[in-house]
Amino acid sequence: QNDIYQAGVHGRTPVVPTDFDELERRARAEMSDRAWAYIAGGAGGGRTMAANRRALDRRAIVPRVLRDVSERTLEIELFGDRLPAPILFAPVGAGDLVARGADRMIGHAAAELGLPYIFSNQGGVRMEDVAAEMDLVRPGAPRWFQLYWSTDDDLVDSLLQRAEGVGASAVAVTLDTTMLGWRPRDLNIGSLPFARGEGIAQYTSDPRFTEIVSERAAQGSSERPEISLGALRTLFSIAKNTPGSLLRNIIRPEPRVGVQTFLDIYSRPSLSWTEIESLRERTALPVVLKGVLHPDDARRAVDSGVDGIIVSNHGGRQIDGAISSVDALAAIAPVVDGRIKVLADSGIYSGADVFKVLALGADAVCIGRPHMYGLALAGADGARDAVANIIAELDLTFGLAGHTNVDELTPEALATLV
Ligand code: FNR
Repeated sequence: QNDIYQAGVHGRTPVVPTDFDELERRARAEMSDRAWAYIAGGAGGGRTMAANRRALDRRAIVPRVLRDVSERTLEIELFGDRLPAPILFAPVGAGDLVARGADRMIGHAAAELGLPYIFSNQGGVRMEDVAAEMDLVRPGAPRWFQLYWSTDDDLVDSLLQRAEGVGASAVAVTLDTTMLGWRPRDLNIGSLPFARGEGIAQYTSDPRFTEIVSERAAQGSSERPEISLGALRTLFSIAKNTPGSLLRNIIRPEPRVGVQTFLDIYSRPSLSWTEIESLRERTALPVVLKGVLHPDDARRAVDSGVDGIIVSNHGGRQIDGAISSVDALAAIAPVVDGRIKVLADSGIYSGADVFKVLALGADAVCIGRPHMYGLALAGADGARDAVANIIAELDLTFGLAGHTNVDELTPEALATLV
């Protein structure tokens, strides 16, 4: 972490800008309109994203002085992993929009920092391949899996089994995306995610998913295959020189995954606490519920025997005008009262932001867009440094505010402005 600061002191420019606004501005210039709309966009008029920012800005750090901060640590323990900082790489689907093989590069970055990467269920690279990449960097580097509860229970079991197989330390079940939010930036350019098949590799590589697609094809509900112009030209050139019987074999459509099939399967709007309570029989992994915002749901989560929650509004991408995750956290942390792990995300973009969220009672935070912007600017190194910058600022903020470790931080480190 100190390297970044030292570099600045000695006049070297960093791999990616060291503050979020400049990081975002520079990343935008590197991204396609589609990628920008999808990554940066929020639900509706962007009110939840604005609320996330406002809630952080309403909290002020009140530093303490003369407390010997020469020895500090940001280390925490989380579900059996010792982490150098209380930060995780949030699951981000359809990362291929930004760079081909995005998930692999982000896995590489997270492994370099020793921080968990939560594999998205809508990843563009099979979790097995991301895990292998991470092991090359740091054998056993921590990783989690994020699950969208499918309409097909067997697919859920298959994904959980694979997550166990790749050595996940926990499974995060995302609850706020039983359907996609109203995202004008994507809608206005006719570019909803997955329209061109980004973010479905996690599914298409799954044995149960392949089975479902074949079953649907057998029932005659398979969609017409989409064939690109280039493929069509190739087919015509082949057809000119091929006997008819052979040709039929070439053009017989494979059971193919269309966007509609994917949308039908990926998430279950009828999901309830019953399914969550069945998780204990489905997997031995610690279970974390992602997208909890109401204190009553947090209480219910504790009663359901899950191991943690992530207080999150999905980066402001699902409901326009939802409560900020920071205000939600302030209400939820006292209710949970340390009985299970509480993580938080959405709009946490600097070391000072992380400090405030930890002070409000989070055990750790997840970071989403910053690592995607770093990726857009400088690949795996950029994804790594976007988060390393946040860690470096967090360490300085701890010291300057008079604190030496995550555990002793309480809401008294903050004042709430009106
Ligand atoms: C997400 N998020 C997300 N969450 C999840 O559980 N599964 C997923 O596949 C995705 N996909 C996704 C794509 C993109 C482009 C973004 C920006 C976000 C939500 C993500 O895990 C996290 O909750 C937010 O990104 C946190 O907010 P910030 O840090 O981006 O403001």
